[in-house]
Amino acid sequence: MGVENKVAVVTGAAQGIGKAIATLLAQKGATVVVCDINLEMATETAREIESGGATCHAIKADVTQLGDADQIVKETVEQCGSLDILVNNAGITKDNVLLRMKEEQWDQVMAVNLKGTFTCTKAAIRVMMRQKKGTIINVASITGLMGNAGQANYSASKAGVIGFTKAVAREYADRGITVNAVAPGFIATAMTDAIPEKEREALINQIPLNRLGSPEDVANAVYFLASEEASYITGQVISINGGLYM
Ligand code: NAI
Repeated sequence: MGVENKVAVVTGAAQGIGKAIATLLAQKGATVVVCDINLEMATETAREIESGGATCHAIKADVTQLGDADQIVKETVEQCGSLDILVNNAGITKDNVLLRMKEEQWDQVMAVNLKGTFTCTKAAIRVMMRQKKGTIINVASITGLMGNAGQANYSASKAGVIGFTKAVAREYADRGITVNAVAPGFIATAMTDAIPEKEREALINQIPLNRLGSPEDVANAVYFLASEEASYITGQVISINGGLYM
């Protein structure tokens, strides 16, 4: 049960939520592949995870490139023998109010958050179909469910991830592949460090559980979805937001 002896790929896993997910899956007995555009940090993270006794590889990849996504899957299968769990976690923000939003801010966010989910899923699905088994977990966001002023590009990309999750879940259910999403609220990482102190306090006051989430809070939900125990769950979105959106 759990994820023991499974092979998991986590994108954007050099730091933050992705690192917490990779670390927890490894602690629970999975072999983990840490993918990131930043190879130096990915390698450091992989070493940290290995020091806990797990097997972990680091791969440099830009998820916006289909060729890189194919390479992740190829190297994973060559080095680890299979690919059982894919976590599409790589994501960026380029915030601005709509009237000031530049075309490249829109395009970059769509490319990493939405296209990056498509490229890696497409590459992984082929292997999972051959195995007749696999699970994919996409990291969406509360903003994809409720919107957020100043984040039209990001909110649209994450709402897109949710629609993509449900479509692919329907398409591959009969191949033994499950596809789900998590929708974190505001989580304490480099991404939210950018929020000014005053805004952060106001934000925390609106959260029923009265704190930002931790990367580990998100990792726990991803671990559950990745585990054998969740094998009857597909096409779902699990919110991890302290009650901010119900
Ligand atoms: P982070 O900025 O700490 O980490 C993101 C990682 O993705 C970095 O290691 C970065 O190098 C990597 N990355 C960026 N572009 C990439 C690319 N093209 N190819 C491969 N890797 C790339 O961000 P954080 O906070 O850990 O976020 C992780 C995920 O969780 C993202 O999808 C984000 O949208 C989502 N999320 C985060 C929330 C938060 O409050 N921090 C809330 C809701 C969702």
